[in-house]
Amino acid sequence: MKVEPITPVFAARVTGIDLKAPLSEEQIRAIGAACDEHGMLVFPDQHLSTEELVVYGRHFGPIDTTLQTRLMNKFQTRLGNDEVSDISNLAVSGEVAPREHPQAVMNVGNRFWHSDRSFADLPDRYSIWSAFQVVDEGGETDFADLRAAYDTLDPVLKDFIADKHGVFYSHNTRDWLCIGDSNDERHAYPPVKWPMVRTHPGSKRKLIWCDSKVCRVVELSLPEGRAIIHELIEHIGEERHRYRHAWRPGDLVMVDNRCTLHRGRRFDLSLPRELRRVEIVDDVPSLGELSWEEWVPQPYAAA
Ligand SMILES: [Fe+2]
Repeated sequence: MKVEPITPVFAARVTGIDLKAPLSEEQIRAIGAACDEHGMLVFPDQHLSTEELVVYGRHFGPIDTTLQTRLMNKFQTRLGNDEVSDISNLAVSGEVAPREHPQAVMNVGNRFWHSDRSFADLPDRYSIWSAFQVVDEGGETDFADLRAAYDTLDPVLKDFIADKHGVFYSHNTRDWLCIGDSNDERHAYPPVKWPMVRTHPGSKRKLIWCDSKVCRVVELSLPEGRAIIHELIEHIGEERHRYRHAWRPGDLVMVDNRCTLHRGRRFDLSLPRELRRVEIVDDVPSLGELSWEEWVPQPYAAA
């Protein structure tokens, strides 16, 4: 297995391994160690099927099913597997969904910096995508390293956030986009509290724990907290901490959600684009679930 860094600060390309073949304990450990160091790994030309993706994911821990059962199954069951997220703009028929269809709108909601299920009490440790259909223009995924972003953060702001906590809410960006989710959907995950500075267990490096699901800062007024959140996300997304991945069919990409964010990029929604993803649940819980009524601001009404 050959691991080559992609940028000076994170991400690596991994070749010389066939992920369809049974993996040895030694190979699984080596992949975990490479992911701890680089934050994300790109394995080109793997072409894993849905079943092979699930088998690969299980090597790294339990696969999340709550995202499908609590939310996604309400509008999309094309793949019929609660362990697999359908990151596509396809309707159940396999044809491209109309752009106002919830499955197409999901792609719009994904355009904001986040790590997967950062809003859950037990978020996702890894997200692992297999690319099935890609587009020639746009549709890349941007990734950013939260450790590198912490290292370069203005020391005054670093000090300021050291003792602050963020409230992560599942529908924060979807509410801002006025997607019109029902109150049932908006209550599917209670908001959770996290420190804004954490240490990545795999590399022991400090990081900024903030993404677009953060709806407020516990210790600050709503406006001041939201301005700080915006400033941190802008900083995290700077080019010096970022890798833009242009997908090719067969790519297998594995990211450590504990130290990276990602966002989808625009593409022509009349063209088919299809990734399939499994998420591995972490075993480090948040500082606790909070009352939805007390902590989730309501600047926009539900449908
Ligand atoms: Fe995501």
